[in-house]
Amino acid sequence: MNKAYVTVMFAFVMSVIGIGSAVEVGATPPAAYEGMRLYVSYCQLCHSPSGKGAGPLAKKMGIKPADLTTTVRSRSDTILKKIITGKGRQTITGRDRHNLISRAMPEWEKVFDDTQIDAIIAYLRFLSRSNHTLMGDPEVGYKLYKKYCVVCHGEEGGGDGIMGQLLDIQPTDHSNPNEMREIKNHQLINIIRTGKGDYMPAWKNILTRDEMEALVSYIRLLSN
Ligand code: HEC
Ligand code: HEC
Repeated sequence: MNKAYVTVMFAFVMSVIGIGSAVEVGATPPAAYEGMRLYVSYCQLCHSPSGKGAGPLAKKMGIKPADLTTTVRSRSDTILKKIITGKGRQTITGRDRHNLISRAMPEWEKVFDDTQIDAIIAYLRFLSRSNHTLMGDPEVGYKLYKKYCVVCHGEEGGGDGIMGQLLDIQPTDHSNPNEMREIKNHQLINIIRTGKGDYMPAWKNILTRDEMEALVSYIRLLSN
């Protein structure tokens, strides 16, 4: 590589970094993990861990909780909020006393504040879209991703980071559900641990197992 070329590339990288650091980070930290914690305490016994229904309590009560992995898809956030709080549930369909959500679904209005309900909804969205679990804290993953991964994988995980632009192959697009769906959690951990190809670094001496799991959870939310 001749000296002039290196200088030009260096100037290019510095100029992009200069612009990059002045811009606010686009991606927002994921609320879904807090939603998952609340789900485990308040929802799982009826709706089951997967959200498909038939948790142990539902079986005992002889009720049929909705399969949240499918029903939630056609519900807007506003409607989900009404269903969860119980507020205005009767008006959901606009038709009096038709398709009401039954009394067997508890009303949580006094239990959660708005932020918590948003977090629960974020997790319900995740449950209905992903066939993978959140194995670590994506809030932690979000911070690590910004620090170490965005430079190649991009702010939103789209594979368009400033360093990525210098490589002759595109870093994997973590926001693409079709690309990410097939890869299992443990495979992602392995790639993060040991690296891939010439350009994806190995992180096994830098990040702990917990940190890698947190990153995997954040990557899951990026594509969901
Ligand atoms: C005591 C059991 C029970 C618990 C606990 C429970 N649910 Fe339900 N849930 C139900 C039942 C039963 C239904 C179905 C009601 C119907 O279809 O009339 C339901 C329905 C729903 C629906 C409507 C699905 C749809 O779109 O039709 C949502 C959303 C929901 N539950 C979310 C939650 C969340 C979130 C929690 C925890 C905060 C929770 N549920 C806790 C029993 C429960
Ligand atoms: C120096 C650039 C660079 C950095 C920094 C980087 N990556 Fe990568 N990463 C790549 C490239 C390039 C690939 C594609 C490798 C290939 O397919 O040969 C990749 C691939 C991956 C994959 C594989 C997905 C798949 O199925 O192929 C995962 C997971 C991944 N990176 C996670 C991370 C995480 C997490 C971080 C931060 C801790 C990170 N990467 C930091 C460049 C980078």
